[in-house]
Amino acid sequence: MENYNMERKSPFSEVKMSERGAYYIETFGCQMNVRDSETAAGLLETLGFSSASEKENADVILFNTCCVRDHAEKRVFGNIGAMKELKDAKPNLILGVFGCMMQQPEVAQKLYKRFPFVDIVFGTNLLSRLPAFVESAEHGSRTLAIEENNIQIEDDLPSIRTGMINAFVNINYGCDNFCTYCIVPYVRGRERSRDPKAIVEEVKKLVAEGYSEITLLGQNVNSYGKDLSDATFAKLLQLVSGVEGLKRIRFMTSHPKDLSDEMIEAMATLPNVCHHVHLPMQSGSNEILSRMNRKYTRERYLEIVRKLRNAMDDVEITTDIIVGFPGETEEDFSQTLDLVDQVGFASAFTFKYSPRMGTRAATMEDQVSEATKRERLHRLNELQEKKSRENNEKYVDRVGIVHVEDCDMRGDPVCYGKCSNFKMVYFAGSPDLIGQYIPVRMEKVRKNSLYGTQEDQPL
Ligand code: 5AD
Ligand code: SF4
Repeated sequence: MENYNMERKSPFSEVKMSERGAYYIETFGCQMNVRDSETAAGLLETLGFSSASEKENADVILFNTCCVRDHAEKRVFGNIGAMKELKDAKPNLILGVFGCMMQQPEVAQKLYKRFPFVDIVFGTNLLSRLPAFVESAEHGSRTLAIEENNIQIEDDLPSIRTGMINAFVNINYGCDNFCTYCIVPYVRGRERSRDPKAIVEEVKKLVAEGYSEITLLGQNVNSYGKDLSDATFAKLLQLVSGVEGLKRIRFMTSHPKDLSDEMIEAMATLPNVCHHVHLPMQSGSNEILSRMNRKYTRERYLEIVRKLRNAMDDVEITTDIIVGFPGETEEDFSQTLDLVDQVGFASAFTFKYSPRMGTRAATMEDQVSEATKRERLHRLNELQEKKSRENNEKYVDRVGIVHVEDCDMRGDPVCYGKCSNFKMVYFAGSPDLIGQYIPVRMEKVRKNSLYGTQEDQPL
């Protein structure tokens, strides 16, 4: 799991000579958006564009936007405003904005009006029409396109993968849960599962391309198959697990209300399913969980954690937590702290509640003041930092199998990568280890990371 608010630089290679020019994509938000940007890149390359490493060298610049919290939205407006100078200097530059934020008609219209130098504005659902939008921009026309209805899933769009050692694979799109704080069901539409055969085919192709680790993606992977006959997430794990050459299967995100015993059994018994669950808890107060429409209690959450740990002694759990949801009292918040203390998450993404127009919580009474949210977030982060450290310390003197992601060559080379259970480990090594699975003895915890030494014995 990665930082939801992380701004991703274009990961694609340096400018190449191309027939049509170069593109640069800036992605905000979650892994689904990263995956959509991979498709946007694939579509642009099919048109004859190649990737640029800097915005300044690009002929097409796209922003893939997020609207889950206010912060991401503000940054998008700021970033696009800053593009005017580039556009003035290079009038043929094509500027496009797409993604979840543009799926909201009033926001898309506002952006389209405020920034007349933006050529293309379209919602997430219309990604497959990007080539047509770019072509009309080349002929001087502006596009504003928002399709409110769900669009059929298009499995076979071209894409350029960004992950060096891990590839994202969508399994379901949209969300039906309507948590009262969340905008996602409004912008990503109803839940639609991909055909299991198409998923397995995609995974086989990825393995043939050299990937041995994948991440299955969905807003709620545990409800996979509800709209299909005879498909569940546990069954999908079994199918994907059988793909020859696939060493690690990750998945996210898991909604606690849909996490089944069969799924826990599949995780525990299938050898290539990773022992990590990203299980957003959101709050530790039953009253707040009910107002959030989460459909589980703190007791049920703890029961799932117990079951996971009984089934796998090395499983790690990470989470998302919101502070300052409307009506959250000091007592409610102390219940959140208490649950965080009891569970002992490996890490947590923590957020101040951000009202989203059109969601139920935005109009609830008893909105919590910004100062209280800030102060609660600080207390929660302090506790989680302590818990993360404790969690890391239990690994000292254990050996983990690290799938090496990259090597930092500033100073003495330091390789890093994750164990099956998502623990990030650093060790002295060389770039030829990238992509390999290396046994590492973990020796110390520095700040929030584990450092170790490569073990001699082969796997
Ligand atoms: N305010 C704050 N955090 C939110 N999230 C989703 N919607 C909001 C909101 N309105 C958080 C949840 C979710 C994660 C992706 O973002 O914790 O799990
Ligand atoms: Fe949003 Fe809830 Fe759906 Fe997650 S499960 S995407 S938080 S509505």
